Amino acid sequence: MTRGQFITFEGTEGVGKSTQLETARSTLEAAGVDVVVTREPGGTPMAEAIRELLLAPRDESVHSLTELLLMFAARAQHLHQRILPALERGSWVLCDRFTDATYAYQGGGRGVPAGHIAVLEQLVQGDLRPDHVILLDAPVDVGMARARDRSEPDRFEQEKAAFFQRIRDCYRQRAKDQPLRYHVVDAARPLDEVSGQVASLVRSFLG
Ligand code: TMP
Repeated sequence: MTRGQFITFEGTEGVGKSTQLETARSTLEAAGVDVVVTREPGGTPMAEAIRELLLAPRDESVHSLTELLLMFAARAQHLHQRILPALERGSWVLCDRFTDATYAYQGGGRGVPAGHIAVLEQLVQGDLRPDHVILLDAPVDVGMARARDRSEPDRFEQEKAAFFQRIRDCYRQRAKDQPLRYHVVDAARPLDEVSGQVASLVRSFLG
């Protein structure tokens, strides 16, 4: 049995990750691939409970290390209970965010040193990294306007534009540093163009 591929979708708020995950899912299913779609933080009942803790707006200020450790606590559960078993039985896993989001949000956004994140990444994941990261990239104001139209802002969405600008910059820098793993898609274009590019990228992963 060949191990499945692990593909993650990243970007700042409101860039259209959910829509493009569906594009990728239908493209792969049409090619006969067994696909598991999941998200972080979350993906198992316990990890979803940690997600609620992380996203709930609260009066108490949340320390950056509390946030970081909860992200990796949820990730350990999700990875070992759901992602790894799926990859091992040959399914492809499409995940809405993964550790690249931790580097961007907790690292770039909150200022946690990348070295601290790398220690937890190695502890929780060993050598496992996504095979492909699809970065949906759009100017921060475009995404924030879309996210605001959707629902009440969660604890992250309540942050100011400068926070999301640091996150976008961090993602773009990581994409430059890791050009083989990262695929940058300009998500500010019309939806059909973005979906077309995502579908052809995903087809190229079929080899
Ligand atoms: P979502 O809105 O894309 O579902 O993600 C939930 C929020 O969690 C989003 O604001 C980004 C944030 N997040 C982090 O800060 N670090 C992480 O490692 C992950 C996976 C998500």
